[in-house]
Amino acid sequence: MAISPFLKTHAPKAQWLQHLESGDVRPYVYVRSENQIPQPGSRHKLDWFPWAPVMIEPLNINEIEFAERIFHLENTAFGPSAMAIPRWVFYDCAVMPGFVAGFAMKTEKLSATMRKALNIRGQHEWTPLSLFIIIPTMKKGEWVAHNLCAVNALLEEKDRFYALGFLSKAFGLWYANVETCCGMTQWGNTALKLHSHYGHLEVLTAYTPVHSHAKTITYRSQVNVGCWENFFTREDDLEFLEKYEPSGLMIDPTQENSMIDLHRRIQKGDGPYFLGALDIAAKKLTDPLIVYRRKKA
Ligand SMILES: CC(C)(COP(=O)(O)OP(=O)(O)OC[C@H]1O[C@@H](n2cnc3c(N)ncnc32)[C@H](O)[C@@H]1OP(=O)(O)O)[C@@H](O)C(=O)NCCC(=O)NCCS
Repeated sequence: MAISPFLKTHAPKAQWLQHLESGDVRPYVYVRSENQIPQPGSRHKLDWFPWAPVMIEPLNINEIEFAERIFHLENTAFGPSAMAIPRWVFYDCAVMPGFVAGFAMKTEKLSATMRKALNIRGQHEWTPLSLFIIIPTMKKGEWVAHNLCAVNALLEEKDRFYALGFLSKAFGLWYANVETCCGMTQWGNTALKLHSHYGHLEVLTAYTPVHSHAKTITYRSQVNVGCWENFFTREDDLEFLEKYEPSGLMIDPTQENSMIDLHRRIQKGDGPYFLGALDIAAKKLTDPLIVYRRKKA
């Protein structure tokens, strides 16, 4: 199955997409059978993911090695931020209520650097390279992105599969027909460069002391595949520019006070406030970001 003409033209840095064409890399869906998505990929019109995913049933004890690979990847990627997922949280809060997806590679085709990073020992058929977990909420159509990680975090830049993290979340949102996606990340995390590209990103909390890391942003996006191409093209998002304007506020990922200040404004009802994907893309992780608001009619 060929990769989409858009990705072929606009994602030259993502050379690994050729492994999708050869069948050595495939999207995977790790979901218990009762949570399977009816009519996957029917909501968002997109031709990026024509390959049938590898389906893995987490409750099948013969598939435990895939879970072990997920744990190794996740725990190694999140270890430095002290957010490695305990196994029981993965089971209780992801496998039972939710949906897990990503990309997997044929174990025999992994490079030596990837084998080392992923601590490969046995010869199971597929090894997960990334992981995206979403959980449905009590609000109709709204999901929470609970976890995103990619083997890239464990590799030197030259060995990375460019856009693996971005495309993993894109695949999960597309496959599961997600309408609205909330999520959490820490200010200054690379992930904000990805999360801001799936739909206009509203800041729900700018400071979150109820989380283990108070400097956490909670966001919400109405998933809009019209924005996704901009991750690669860096073109202006005309709809964003039409709808929003700089509020005059900035958020500084190194200054807790700026988070508390923005959060208090949200709490008072001054918002909603938004972040701009292209502003984030153009900045270093620690640079202050423009806070946008809706233009007045
Ligand atoms: C965050 C994460 C999922 C990103 O996935 P990824 O596959 O590395 O990123 P992608 O290749 O999809 O995206 C590439 C963009 O991120 C940037 N990026 C990736 N790693 C980076 C780093 N360490 N520092 C700065 N930017 C980085 C790239 O420069 C690129 O931006 P560009 O197009 O402007 O050059 C991955 O780094 C990871 O697993 N991190 C550890 C776990 C984590 O913190 N998860 C986020 C939880 S919300």
